[in-house]
Amino acid sequence: MTQKIIVSGGAGYIGSHTAVALQNAGFEVVVFDNLSNSKSDSLDGVMRITGVRPLFEQIDCTDTNAMRDAFARHRDAVGVIHFAALKAVGESVEKPLMYYRNNLGGLINILDAMAEFNVNNIVFSSSATVYGVPEKLPATEETPLQPATSPYGSTKVMGENIIRDTVQAKPNMRAVLLRYFNPIGAHPSGEIGELPNGIPNNLMPYITQTAAGIREHLNVFGDDYDTPDGFCVRDYIDVNDLAAAHVAALRHMLGGAQGVNVFNLGTGRGTSVMELIRAFESATGVKVPYKIAPRRAGDVPAIWADATKAERVLGWRATTALTDTLASAWRWQQKVSEKN
Ligand code: NAD
Ligand code: WQD
Repeated sequence: MTQKIIVSGGAGYIGSHTAVALQNAGFEVVVFDNLSNSKSDSLDGVMRITGVRPLFEQIDCTDTNAMRDAFARHRDAVGVIHFAALKAVGESVEKPLMYYRNNLGGLINILDAMAEFNVNNIVFSSSATVYGVPEKLPATEETPLQPATSPYGSTKVMGENIIRDTVQAKPNMRAVLLRYFNPIGAHPSGEIGELPNGIPNNLMPYITQTAAGIREHLNVFGDDYDTPDGFCVRDYIDVNDLAAAHVAALRHMLGGAQGVNVFNLGTGRGTSVMELIRAFESATGVKVPYKIAPRRAGDVPAIWADATKAERVLGWRATTALTDTLASAWRWQQKVSEKN
C-alpha cells in the first residue's frame, strides 16, 4: 500500500525537490504550506517532473485548529517531513518574535497533532548553523553545538531540543534531525528551483542573478580569512542529493530505527567563495562580475561536513558533480528570468 507523507513547507525550495524524490520513491505526498515564501506553481513543477501533483493543503502551521483539521483529513499519514520555517538570518535579528512564533509555534503544533493522530515519524530540517564556529573540521554530529548567533539559528537548536524532549516522553515516536550544510542548485529539468524573495542573501542565487545581469556585481565578503585562498569555505550540497537523503531518513525510521537520530548532510568537501565563482564560470561559460567587499558580520570562516554517518547508517551520500549542480542553478535562473 502506498504510504502517505505530510510535507510541511513542501511548496518551498528543498520541500518541492523532496516531494519529487518521495513521489519517485513511491510515496504519496501531501503538502502543508501557507505560501508565505513560495508559490503553488512549484507543485505544478513537481507534477511535470513526476506526473503527479502532490495533494495540497494551504494552511499555516501556527494555526492550531487548522493543523488539527488537516491532520484529521490525513490521519493515514505514516510520517511528517517538517520544512516549514522562515529562514532569513538577518530578518530574524530584526523580528525575533516572528521567527520564534513561526518556526517553534509551527513545530509544536505539528508535534501535538502527530501525537493526537498517532503519526509517529518526523524528519526535521536543522542546519549546520547549530555548529557555529567549530573547533575542529570537518564537523561531525558529535561536534559540540555553539550558542546560536541569530534568532533563526536559535530556532534550529531549540527545535532539535523540542523534538528530543517529545520523543523522550513518547516512546512510540521517532525522529531524524537533518543538519543541512549549504543547499544549492535546482532540479535538472529546470521545472523547480529556489525563488529568493527580493535581493538574495545567499551566495548561489546572488551568483546566478549577477550572471543574468539582474545584479551589477557580486560582493565577495572578505578575502583575508585564515583559509587556503583567504575566502570563506562552505560545503555546497546539491538540493537533489539533499532531497534523496530525506527519503533515506524516512525509510530508516519506517524500517524500525528508534529514538532520535542526527545526520549531517553535506558533501564532505569544502569550497571557497572564489572557487565557487570560478566553478560556475567554467560550468556555464558565463562571467560573474565581482568586487571584494568587507567581511559580513557573523560569517563563519570555514565549515564543511563529515557526512560519513549518513553514508554508514542511511546508505546515502551526495553524488552530483558540482559542475552539474551549477549548470542546474543556471538553467533555473534563465527560466525564471525569461518569465519575468
Ligand atoms: P523555503 O522558504 O523555500 O521553504 C519553506 C516553506 O515553508 C515555504 O514554502 C514557506 O511558504 C513555508 N512556510 C513557512 N512558514 C510556514 C508556516 N508557518 N506554515 C506553513 N508553511 C510555512 O526554504 P527552504 O530553503 O526550502 O528551507 C526548508 C527548511 O530547511 C527550513 O526549515 C530551513 O530553515 C531549513 N534549512 C534551509 C537551508 C537553506 O540554505 N536553504 C539550510 C539549512 C536549513
Ligand atoms: C555563503 C558564503 C558569505 C553572499 C546561510 C545561513 C545558514 C543556512 C544557509 C539556513 C559566505 C559568502 C554570500 C554574497 C558572499 N541557512 N557570500 N557574497 O552564510 O553559509 O549560511 O545559509 O539554515 O543558516 O547562515 O550561506 O550563501 O549566505 O554564504 O561573499 O552576496 O558566501 O560570506 O562565506 P551561509 P550564504
